[in-house]
Amino acid sequence: MGEGDGRRDDTSVGRPAAISDHFLFMRKFFKHRRKIASIWPSSRSMAKACISQVDFSRARLIVELGAGTGAITQAILSQITPHTQLIAIERDADFFRILRERFAATADHIKFMQGDVVHLPEMLRDCGVREGSVDAFISGLGTPSLPAAAQQGIFKALAWAAKPDGVFSNITEVPLYYLPFYRRHFRRVQFQFVPLNIPPGGIYHCREPDRG
Ligand SMILES: C[S@@+](CC[C@H](N)C(=O)[O-])C[C@H]1O[C@@H](n2cnc3c(N)ncnc32)[C@H](O)[C@@H]1O
Repeated sequence: MGEGDGRRDDTSVGRPAAISDHFLFMRKFFKHRRKIASIWPSSRSMAKACISQVDFSRARLIVELGAGTGAITQAILSQITPHTQLIAIERDADFFRILRERFAATADHIKFMQGDVVHLPEMLRDCGVREGSVDAFISGLGTPSLPAAAQQGIFKALAWAAKPDGVFSNITEVPLYYLPFYRRHFRRVQFQFVPLNIPPGGIYHCREPDRG
């Protein structure tokens, strides 16, 4: 990565995820199941695939949903340039604390928000987000399994805040199963398989949200 382009070296962004973070993830998964949605944080392959549709040379604003302990946040920050802002949203208080500590040194690029995506439109407004200004929503949520109110929060926020050519990229651990769900909400949906993850999964890259 060139020094002059303002991007950060992968190793300079946050400390690596501690193994204790992984076990915290596992404990929470067995306690809360669907609220956490995954037994283990995303692998580097999954994180890389999740941001593969973002044009970092042009992006000004990226919103990450369900940031967890920061597996995907780290990948975003390794690519981010000085002109790009990241808003990272996480509901769980323990994950949120880890996230803030881990990325404290990059606080000029990130706004952390602790909260539920049920309130996503209000949270984005509170952060000063303007209509049609978000280049990419990067989601670690199990969106199809969320309660209806949370799904509504996400799709309302997308319809209002996404740029016309913006992307919504969402991880999954059930390859292709939710394709009909995403096709109901977006005109263009592309699935990317990611074998190197626990468990193997993939990403739905979605464009042109239903604004009806
Ligand atoms: C599958 S984990 C992904 C974590 C991280 N992005 C990763 O890839 O390792 C889903 C994350 O979304 C968070 N989450 C679940 N429901 C949420 C909601 N309604 N609002 C905000 N965050 C939520 C969970 O606490 C968890 O950290």
